[in-house]
Amino acid sequence: MRAPGLSRCPRIGADDSGGTVFRILIANSKGGSGKTTLTTTLAGYYARAGRLATLLDCDPQGSSLAWSQLRGAQHATVRTLASSDPANGLGTGWVLRLPSDTQVLLIDTPAGLRAHEFVPFARHADVLLVPVVPSPLDLHATLGFLDGVRRLPEVRQGLLRVGLIANRLRERTVAARDLDATLQRLTQTCLIRVRDSQLYLRLAAVGMSLFDDNSSTTRGHREDWQPLLDWLSLRESERRREAKVAFLPAAAKKIGN
Ligand SMILES: Nc1ncnc2c1ncn2[C@@H]1O[C@H](COP(=O)(O)OP(=O)(O)OP(=O)(O)O)[C@@H](O)[C@H]1O
Ligand SMILES: [Mg+2]
Repeated sequence: MRAPGLSRCPRIGADDSGGTVFRILIANSKGGSGKTTLTTTLAGYYARAGRLATLLDCDPQGSSLAWSQLRGAQHATVRTLASSDPANGLGTGWVLRLPSDTQVLLIDTPAGLRAHEFVPFARHADVLLVPVVPSPLDLHATLGFLDGVRRLPEVRQGLLRVGLIANRLRERTVAARDLDATLQRLTQTCLIRVRDSQLYLRLAAVGMSLFDDNSSTTRGHREDWQPLLDWLSLRESERRREAKVAFLPAAAKKIGN
């Protein structure tokens, strides 16, 4: 899978920011699996944790952008950029608009991305998160998507790590059990189970995330996310260490000059 015009796409991260931007890509070729919900939940989490989070909405539907516009000024700031033409991938235009102090970049992508459209996104990410809902047809489509993902050089070389999110689970249902069993068989590095709950719709309607209030209900829901948050934190530390090592020869050369 190689996209035309790939060489024109600048990479951000270790190559030109010293590894200071941790890039989280959220994708699944299947629609309605929870990509935007996952993106906005994590955006809320990082913002609340005091990180400079930028959300890049690459879906022409603009759902993440709409969420951020509903967000009240009392909540921690999430900067949002829209790149409504996924055919451009992560081209020069939006890279130039990325706030230079960004620490965490969350990239929400549209459903139905074709392989050649997905590759440029994958090249600009440290982590790929794939949400999947417990429906046999959705699962079938997602497994096809993951098959393509596994073949990417970035994934094979360990540059892009993949996490799976089993979303909208209803305990003790056959569909949830089947989804769980299938995902367990995949050798992915992280898996969380997020319950099906109307709370996500209520929060989305007012531009909030689970991390913007501290009621006992939201606290209970946050437990679903903790293993993913821990995994992301670990991955970010690894990423920083790798970037430092990659940066050393260049720095040493400068000193030598
Ligand atoms: N865990 C959940 N519990 C209940 N509802 C959920 C949950 N996750 C997502 N939803 C709801 O499911 C619908 C689809 O979610 P979302 O918009 O996040 O998916 P998407 O993958 O971004 O969709 P699209 O492919 O259209 O961009 C939304 O109404 C959202 O509020
Ligand atoms: Mg969406």
